[in-house]
Amino acid sequence: MEYINNKDFLRTRTRPSKFTAYIHKGQAHLEKGLTSKILASLNMHENISIMQIKTPDEKPALLKVNKLKDRSKIIRATFGISRRGTYDGPIAEIANIIDLQHINYIPNIIAYGFIKNRLGLIRKTFLLTDFIENSLTVDDFIKQKPELTWDCIGLSLAQIVKCYDDNFIHLDLWFKNILVNPSLTKSWVIDLEYCKIGSFSSKEAQIGHSLGYFFWYGLSEKINLDDYLAFTKNWLITNKIEVDIKKLMAQVTYAATHEIKRKKKLELF
Ligand SMILES: Nc1ncnc2c1ncn2[C@@H]1O[C@H](COP(=O)(O)OP(=O)(O)OP(=O)(O)O)[C@@H](O)[C@H]1O
Ligand SMILES: [Mg+2]
Repeated sequence: MEYINNKDFLRTRTRPSKFTAYIHKGQAHLEKGLTSKILASLNMHENISIMQIKTPDEKPALLKVNKLKDRSKIIRATFGISRRGTYDGPIAEIANIIDLQHINYIPNIIAYGFIKNRLGLIRKTFLLTDFIENSLTVDDFIKQKPELTWDCIGLSLAQIVKCYDDNFIHLDLWFKNILVNPSLTKSWVIDLEYCKIGSFSSKEAQIGHSLGYFFWYGLSEKINLDDYLAFTKNWLITNKIEVDIKKLMAQVTYAATHEIKRKKKLELF
């Protein structure tokens, strides 16, 4: 079967897709008449369904379907309108994952597309990517093996620095958006709707923000701030990360203790 894997995002977006994927009566429909069993439902609420499925050629895949409800979002999606340099969530996620496909820790796209109504307005988006088997989120890893918490955090810090080296900043990189393998030799970055590719802010600002946010949102419920700051500083030195440590740690401390609103982040990076 042929999946859409067209890197020319805007061209595909403005044309009705031949390929559609949707969830109906407990099955993922991948093409007219072609269905796939759902192996697991990972998240489902009003506007989003995330399913682990198998493609007809038996590949484990992750299907994310977003329903656009808001009228202005439907209009912006249909006409390709961005705001503050970014598309709305589900469209931005597709655009970003396309732009980051050359990176080996980003899941490969199998297909993506847009489901339109009779008026040609986009009502749903879908994204089908490789399912990273034998992986778990940092959150789940720490729950399962609390004795390896700091090893897992070390791997996450390395992943955050890699994102900088690969020229993008993931602005929602909390401990459920980094996947690791059980032996802690590999990591992946998922959920790419909120990214800035090619940011012009300094290395200290970008890495510092990400390291602080990684603690502030989620991890702060599990470990102590002073322990995290001490570990992070020591990790940066031991791993010879070329940065102004004092400047960077000031950024980490700020982001680890303050909420920074979405709009503000888009201005900062
Ligand atoms: N490619 C993948 N391989 C394996 N598991 C994945 C993959 N992508 C996502 N997951 C699992 O599914 C969960 C939810 O995925 P994701 O983070 O993309 O969506 P979300 O945070 O629920 O959605 P949103 O943030 O858009 O509301 C992840 O925490 C992870 O456990
Ligand atoms: Mg997520």
